[in-house]
Amino acid sequence: MAKILVTGGTGFIGSHTVVELQKQGFEVVIVDNLSNSSIDVLSGIEKITGKRPIFENVDCVDYVSMDRLFEKHSNIAAIIHFAASKAVGESVDKPLLYYRNNLVSVINLLQLMPIHKVDNFVFSSSCTVYGQPDVLPVTEDAPIKVALSPYGNTKQIGEEIICDTLRSNPGTQSIILRYFNPIGAHASAEIGELPNGVPNNLLPFVTQTAIGLRKQLQVYGNDYDTPDGSCIRDYIHVVDLAKAHVIAVQRMLDKKTKNQVETFNLGTGRGLSVLEIIDTFEKVNEVKVPHKIVARREGDIEKVWADPSYANNELGWIATETLEETLRSAWAWELNLAKRTKAEA
Ligand code: WQD
Repeated sequence: MAKILVTGGTGFIGSHTVVELQKQGFEVVIVDNLSNSSIDVLSGIEKITGKRPIFENVDCVDYVSMDRLFEKHSNIAAIIHFAASKAVGESVDKPLLYYRNNLVSVINLLQLMPIHKVDNFVFSSSCTVYGQPDVLPVTEDAPIKVALSPYGNTKQIGEEIICDTLRSNPGTQSIILRYFNPIGAHASAEIGELPNGVPNNLLPFVTQTAIGLRKQLQVYGNDYDTPDGSCIRDYIHVVDLAKAHVIAVQRMLDKKTKNQVETFNLGTGRGLSVLEIIDTFEKVNEVKVPHKIVARREGDIEKVWADPSYANNELGWIATETLEETLRSAWAWELNLAKRTKAEA
């Protein structure tokens, strides 16, 4: 069975993708430096699939260690590259950490691919590259706007490095996946989003407020040009997102790509406001999320949601999880985390 190298595989999207890869019979090697995830995730994956993935505690920025890793794990059929720093606000405070971590890792992998005869590369990108689109829903040919944060810039530059490098290496192919807002957790509640410290993203803050870990959720602004004044995003179930990665890998292995580099928007096509998310979360989970409106957050996009039709038609992939199920899964994960923490106390 084909062996897939998953960098950042103990992270939120990475771990869910490892589960879906194993379910499809792939052998998985996870590379992760555990800087923003826990080794316990391996047990969560094993509980779901019955298979503990091979794990290498290596930093993708460390060329020599990565070279040794490819020596050790020969015949890698494809790489899925998740490992990156991803907090927009932190990237403004620590730009060089983000440029080093997010770009040197890409450069190392692209340099090592021809040396170790790895031909296929899936890159984890983001709708952030579009900035505030002029036209909604946003398609893959929408203009790339000047990045509003070093984080967003590393995704744009990462895509450019891939395109330029592959052009000089005809034997390789890449699929770039631009995520919208991944939320939720595996139905087993064995894996999910595990933010380090105070969550940056909306959903973990909602679930931690609902369970009482946080006193109150701050809603960053309700004076936007949207129906209820709060920002709109395209929230996609992380399992739907994970499944798209398996399809992308298989597409390259089957040599069905139509261009050396293909790019897809992975969203539901449904735009939802912050207040709608809170309201729906409270209803489906019959729990309250104390919140208050505060000032806007610097750098926030007003509204963005995907036109996923290219991925739907070309990949044969569609987001199938309902919003209700997605929000239920996020809550079930938070409850399971609380149970585990209590048991470990
Ligand atoms: C969503 C909405 C906030 C927290 C970023 C990256 C993207 C991806 C996901 C990595 C916004 C509002 C949030 C809170 C709030 N990163 N919000 N109170 O900023 O759309 O996307 O994270 O994979 O690439 O750009 O996600 O969840 O931070 O915010 O009101 O406590 O929720 O203002 O409107 P974002 P988010």
